[in-house]
Amino acid sequence: MTGDEQDRVRIFDTTLRDGEQSPGISLSKGEKLEIAQQLARLGVDVVEAGFPITSPGDFESVRAIAREVHGPVICGLARTSVQDIDAAWNAIRDSERPRIHTFIATSDIHIERKLQTTRENVKGQARAAVAHAREYTEDVEFSPEDGSRSDVEFMAEVVQIALDEGATTINVPDTVGYTMPDEYAAMFARLYELVPDLRDVVVSVHCHNDLGMAVANSLAGLGAGCRQVECAVNGIGERAGNASLEEIVMLLRTRASTLGLWTGAHTQEIARTSRLVSRLTGYPVQPNKAIVGRNAFAHEAGIHQDGVLKERTTYEIMDATTIGLERNEIVLGKHSGRHALRKALEELGFEVTGAALNTAFGRFKEVADKKKKVTALDLEAIVSDEMRQAPQAYRLESFEIEASSERSPLASVRVGLPGGEVAGGSFTGDGPVDAFFSAINAATGHEARLKEYHVSAVTGGRDALGEVTVLLELGGVLASGQGVSTDILEASGRAYLRALANALAEAGPVAEAERHLEGADEAARTPTP
Ligand code: KIV
Ligand code: ZN
Repeated sequence: MTGDEQDRVRIFDTTLRDGEQSPGISLSKGEKLEIAQQLARLGVDVVEAGFPITSPGDFESVRAIAREVHGPVICGLARTSVQDIDAAWNAIRDSERPRIHTFIATSDIHIERKLQTTRENVKGQARAAVAHAREYTEDVEFSPEDGSRSDVEFMAEVVQIALDEGATTINVPDTVGYTMPDEYAAMFARLYELVPDLRDVVVSVHCHNDLGMAVANSLAGLGAGCRQVECAVNGIGERAGNASLEEIVMLLRTRASTLGLWTGAHTQEIARTSRLVSRLTGYPVQPNKAIVGRNAFAHEAGIHQDGVLKERTTYEIMDATTIGLERNEIVLGKHSGRHALRKALEELGFEVTGAALNTAFGRFKEVADKKKKVTALDLEAIVSDEMRQAPQAYRLESFEIEASSERSPLASVRVGLPGGEVAGGSFTGDGPVDAFFSAINAATGHEARLKEYHVSAVTGGRDALGEVTVLLELGGVLASGQGVSTDILEASGRAYLRALANALAEAGPVAEAERHLEGADEAARTPTP
C-alpha cells in the first residue's frame, strides 16, 4: 500500500533489542540473523539489532546482521558514553544503512535516582553523544528516556540540543508504559510547539504495554504527527512488552481510510514472522491475541459462522490472506516427491536446494510416514528445525527410555559429536525428560542445567507434530533450542542438543568482539533500559 510520503509511517522493529530483553529470551547469533532476515522480508524500515556494548555476543550478532541483512536500516543502541557509541558503530558500520540510536533519561526521577546527576549534565551528555555519533554516520536517532514522565520544557531543551548536533530522528519513549493516549498526544503537541525544528526530522513513538495501552498510545502519537513507530513482533519486550508490530501495521492498513496513514510492510509475511519469533524465543502467542492469535480469524458461535459463510465481512474486518494465513492450506501426502516438496517450500518462501533439499526431504519423509497429511505449518516447522544447525551441531542418533510408575526412569542416549564420533550416556531422573537430558549431559560431557521447557503442537490432531523449546544454562551462558518431531521425547532431545550447541557457540567466538569492547568497564555493560 502506498500513498503520500508525508503519511508514511516507518516501522522500527525492536524485537531483537527491546524484545530480546524479555525475561528468559536468549537468542543465538544465528537465530537473531534468521529473525532479522525475516524482518527484512516483512519490509520493516529499521531493524534495531541489539545493544552492542552489553555483551560480546550481542556485539557479534549486531555485526552479523549489519553485514548480511539488506534492505532495512540496521540500528545499534548506545547510551551516551564514548565506549557505547564506539561499540555500536563498530557493530553496524558494515551495514548499507547504519543508524546509531543513543539515549539518556530526561525525567527527574531517572536523573536524580538512577543517573544520580543533574539536568545540566544530561544536556552535556546528550550533546556529546549525538555529536560523536554524527562523526560516524548521518543517521542518528536520539531518545530522551522516560520522556512521557519528563518535564516537557526540559525535555524540549535536550531535544533541541540533539537536533543542533545533527540527530535525524527523535524518539520519545513511554518507557514505563504509564501514559494515556490523550496525554501522550498532548505531550507531542507541546514538544512540536517548543521545538519547531522537529518538523524537519522524523519523530517517533516507543510505547510499553504495562497498562495495555502501547498500541493505543502509539496511535495517539501518530495522530500528533509522529511518523515512526517502535514496536516488536508479538509485542514482546521489557516487562509487559512493547507495542505489537502486527497490531500497529494491521491497524494502519485496516483503518487506512480513516487514518490516512500507510506503511511499507508486506503484511502477507506477518503470520510467518510471528510464528518464527514465537518459535525461537519460546514465547507462545496467546490464542486470542489480536491479528496473530490462533483464534484471531476463527468463529466459534454458530450465528457468526453462519454470517461469515453468507458474507465474510459480517463478522470479519480483515481477510486472513492479508497476513499470510492462506499459505497454511498447502498439504502434502506421504507419496509426495522431492519436486512437490520443493514447490511447496518455495510457496512458503523457503529456497531449499541441493544437499539442504535432500536433508529436508529425508525429514519430510520421516514425518509423512507417521502423519497422513503434512501441512504447510508442519513443513515450516520441519524445515526451520532442520536448517537451524549451529556450527558445532550435535546429532541425536538414538535413545531409549525405560519408564514405569514403580521406579525412576532410566534414559540411554547416543549422540553424534561435532567431530564425527558417537558418544553414549545413561542416567536416571525424576521423570523421563529429566533422565533424558541428564543422559545427554553424560554423553556430551557438559553440565548444562535446564531452566525452561515448553511443549506445543504445531497443528491439531493426535498425530500432530510436537514442538519443544528448551532454555538451558551452561557455564553462565543462557541458550535456547527448539526441536520438532511426531515423538515428543525425540523433539525434546533435539531441542536440548540444539540449545547445548547454541550455548557453546555463544561462549565461543567472542574474542574479537571482546577486543571491540575493550575499555568498556563493567558498569558500561549493565543491563539495558
Ligand atoms: O523504553 C525505552 O525508553 C527504551 C529506550 C532505549 C528507547 O527502550
Ligand atoms: Zn523500551
